[in-house]
Amino acid sequence: MENPTRTADYIARITQRRNSLGDQIAHSIPSETPFVWEIGCGHGHFLAAYAAAHPSKICVGVDISKDRIDRGLRKRNRAKLDNLHFIQADARDFLDALPAEATFSAIYILFPDPWPKRRHHKNRIMQSEFLTAAAQRAGQGTRLHFRTDYEPYFRDSEQLISQHAAWQIVAEPWPFEQLTVFQSRAASHHSLIAQRRSEYT
Ligand SMILES: C[S@@+](CC[C@H](N)C(=O)[O-])C[C@H]1O[C@@H](n2cnc3c(N)ncnc32)[C@H](O)[C@@H]1O
Repeated sequence: MENPTRTADYIARITQRRNSLGDQIAHSIPSETPFVWEIGCGHGHFLAAYAAAHPSKICVGVDISKDRIDRGLRKRNRAKLDNLHFIQADARDFLDALPAEATFSAIYILFPDPWPKRRHHKNRIMQSEFLTAAAQRAGQGTRLHFRTDYEPYFRDSEQLISQHAAWQIVAEPWPFEQLTVFQSRAASHHSLIAQRRSEYT
């Protein structure tokens, strides 16, 4: 039977976590400027190089691992990159906690955890619900960049995106190359770019 005190505690904890994430986002991301969002940024190799090459773009890396975010923050501080931010969060919580007026202009998902077993596919970041939630916060023309070394995940994502109303796969060159930790360990990889459909509401 449900314990009302435990349920209330649980809801209070979730609300507190979401509010504190919302505060962190509000302090680091100017809400009037669409930002470049990297999901599962790891140690921040890609985004630090991207932010250095694009000083006018606000770049935000999100990862669930505190240790990886701390390493990213050290890179940011060493390179004095004011346009680069790293936030420890689950990507879905981050989306939920974004202020209403905040949008992004690009998404990068590089070598996400592949969760090879079928019963674990539900843990993959690439899900229809995630694509819908991301499209709702994506500005016009937003590109989603996806790269993996696990071919079955690539094929599943390709299929998922082609069946999704908000996104359309486009044949475009990869806009910015920077070796990540997982890319340096991979023998090969597959990449796709999808554009947010302008007619999607
Ligand atoms: C395989 S590593 C790839 C790291 C980096 N992108 C690279 O290419 O080296 C996957 C990363 O995604 C992070 N991650 C996994 N699930 C996540 C989620 N739901 N939200 C945010 N980060 C997540 C992990 O902590 C890990 O750092």
